[in-house]
Amino acid sequence: MSETEALKAKLLGEIETASDLDALEALRVAALGKAGSVTGLLKTLGGMTPEERQAEGPKIHSLREAVTAAIGARKAALEGAALDAKLAGERLDMTLPAAAAPRGSVHPVSQVMDELAEIFADMGFAVATGPEIEDDWRNFTALNIPETHPARAMHDTFYFPDTDAEGRAMLLRTHTSPVQIRTMMTQQPPIRIIAPGRVYRSDSDATHTPMFHQVEGLVIDRGIHMGHLKWTLETFLKAFFERDDIVLRLRPSYFPFTEPSAEVDVGYAHEKGRRIVGGNGDDDGHAWMELLGSGMVNRRVIANCGLDPDEWQGFAFGIGIDRLAMLKYGMDDLRAFFDGDLRWLAHYGFGALSVPTLSGGISA
Ligand code: DAH
Repeated sequence: MSETEALKAKLLGEIETASDLDALEALRVAALGKAGSVTGLLKTLGGMTPEERQAEGPKIHSLREAVTAAIGARKAALEGAALDAKLAGERLDMTLPAAAAPRGSVHPVSQVMDELAEIFADMGFAVATGPEIEDDWRNFTALNIPETHPARAMHDTFYFPDTDAEGRAMLLRTHTSPVQIRTMMTQQPPIRIIAPGRVYRSDSDATHTPMFHQVEGLVIDRGIHMGHLKWTLETFLKAFFERDDIVLRLRPSYFPFTEPSAEVDVGYAHEKGRRIVGGNGDDDGHAWMELLGSGMVNRRVIANCGLDPDEWQGFAFGIGIDRLAMLKYGMDDLRAFFDGDLRWLAHYGFGALSVPTLSGGISA
């Protein structure tokens, strides 16, 4: 056997039995590294006569190829075995009974947001979103809220110290209404959206938290009037509270971004010491509860977004989601919503698999 063949047999044998990746790497360096045995053989080619080189050259090159291939194959095998061992060690017991594992729950706010999306999707509304860090043009100016409006004051709004690239003051949005602006500036009418999300105000007591949730509604089309608004709200509230005796009362009001504006009250009754939405507020034992703000989108707001207010009209509304959840599911302290108390969540939370659907019952 020639020197080359002997070396080949020895190296391939060692590679085949290398016990781990470190041992294999040591073998690779000893054979193919700068001072390696195969590298050394390759160097001898330089000192050979042309005839010797013609005879030995192919043998030495094929030795190098065989060693390289064997190392690659052994490396793949060792890595595969290492992965198998790791997976075997991390094995999960899928047969563990689910009831024994800690149970999560869907927060009532998330549940109500899902219910809203489901109900409004059925009426052809898409869900839109906007950032919680907003600029003062979209949060106030474009919505026709004047510089002097009290909502802009430092004690009502959380401002950031720096402005954006366009020199606009940055703030935590105080309502979901800026999503109206974002939508009208990026979509051609007809528009039908709801925009649920977090909003922030510098306000904190038993019924106010610095962060809370709203859902905005916006419809822009031709020939929209307040009848569309009232029908939409009535249809939504019947589906949401899952009863047909929902009676609405629209009270004239003022919001800078709607004209005319209306606050919407819903009739309620006391049942078992709780306010239950439903029934006509004019009857004995019933009363009206303020539920949301709404109105026809102010022409100035439509024009601020680059649309022609003579062609496009619409209505908008804004509702407090936390309030909706409290009314529907009977919680009375808003602060508990954001305490993260597991007992509260276990009691008021929803199962992750009970997705609200109109056909299956919205909160079933
Ligand atoms: N943005 C108002 C607020 O936060 C709520 C509101 C009122 C939204 C009337 C509307 C609307 O879209 O038409 O108090």
